Amino acid sequence: MNSDTYNSGPVLAISKMSIVLGGNEILHDVNFELHSGEFSGLIGPNGSGKTTLLRTILGFHRPAEGSIHFEGKSGFANRRSIGYVPQKILLDPDVPVRARDLVELGLDGHRLGIRLPSKERRRQVDDMLHAVNAEAFADQRIGQLSGGQQQRILIAHALIRRPRLLLLDEPLANLDIRSVAEVVNLLNQLAHQQRIAILLSAHDINPLMGAMDRLVYVANGHAASGPVNEVIDDKVLSTLYGYHVDVIRVHGRILITTGPGDEYFEPGRDCVTPETSSLP
Ligand SMILES: Nc1ncnc2c1ncn2[C@@H]1O[C@H](COP(=O)(O)OP(=O)(O)OP(=O)(O)O)[C@@H](O)[C@H]1O
Ligand SMILES: [Mg+2]
Repeated sequence: MNSDTYNSGPVLAISKMSIVLGGNEILHDVNFELHSGEFSGLIGPNGSGKTTLLRTILGFHRPAEGSIHFEGKSGFANRRSIGYVPQKILLDPDVPVRARDLVELGLDGHRLGIRLPSKERRRQVDDMLHAVNAEAFADQRIGQLSGGQQQRILIAHALIRRPRLLLLDEPLANLDIRSVAEVVNLLNQLAHQQRIAILLSAHDINPLMGAMDRLVYVANGHAASGPVNEVIDDKVLSTLYGYHVDVIRVHGRILITTGPGDEYFEPGRDCVTPETSSLP
């Protein structure tokens, strides 16, 4: 069975997975599935383990416990075909690489020795630029594009080999509100129209609220997953954080807050009385 024929069951299944780095357990007992055609959010505060989780899916870290199945198989080899947009990419304005060149480079990632004919390459690059609505700036230098334009090109770069799973690490950071909405709509469309499973990490849930099919929320070394309205719930998130939090819906936005005097007891944990703050 290869990635073209695998079409039953989840694209990615993570079960009872724990990740230990440098002797510290970063995440414990993580369980979730991603499905074709679904757009999922990976939400959590700074340092909660979002990047670590994505890098573990990609095979950069080996889980200390539990399993990862990609298209029904465990093991790292086939995970090379997962599309990835990393968190930190610095694109120098002076590097003489056009946007379309960067997209084309995505074709060569893992095809050493086999090169498509140039006409076919050109067609695939043009198709991809069209899919992410980037034709207008395709011939400009990548480092001279705006953050939102660069993000479209990086998505095209990751998608051009037609992965069944696309992971994006904080692609909305540093974008203005309009670009955030555009990138989210684009990814939502790509997931549904091209039957890709997409997992996008972010620390603010709000820009993703209308778009997400499912949610993986990481905090305090644990993860909660499921349909958005099931996870964004006082009880579920209080258990996850290990202290009482309130989910407040105001003007269509979600605020996850905690205040002085709030106390939440969980068997086996100390009582925590956090300071007033707004959580991601
Ligand atoms: N290679 C490593 N060795 C040891 N600890 C690490 C390593 N990489 C990350 N960590 C730790 O793992 C925790 C989670 O880090 P990670 O970068 O995954 O968080 P994040 O949710 O992506 O944060 P951010 O929102 O800031 O990007 C942090 O405490 C970090 O210090
Ligand atoms: Mg990160």
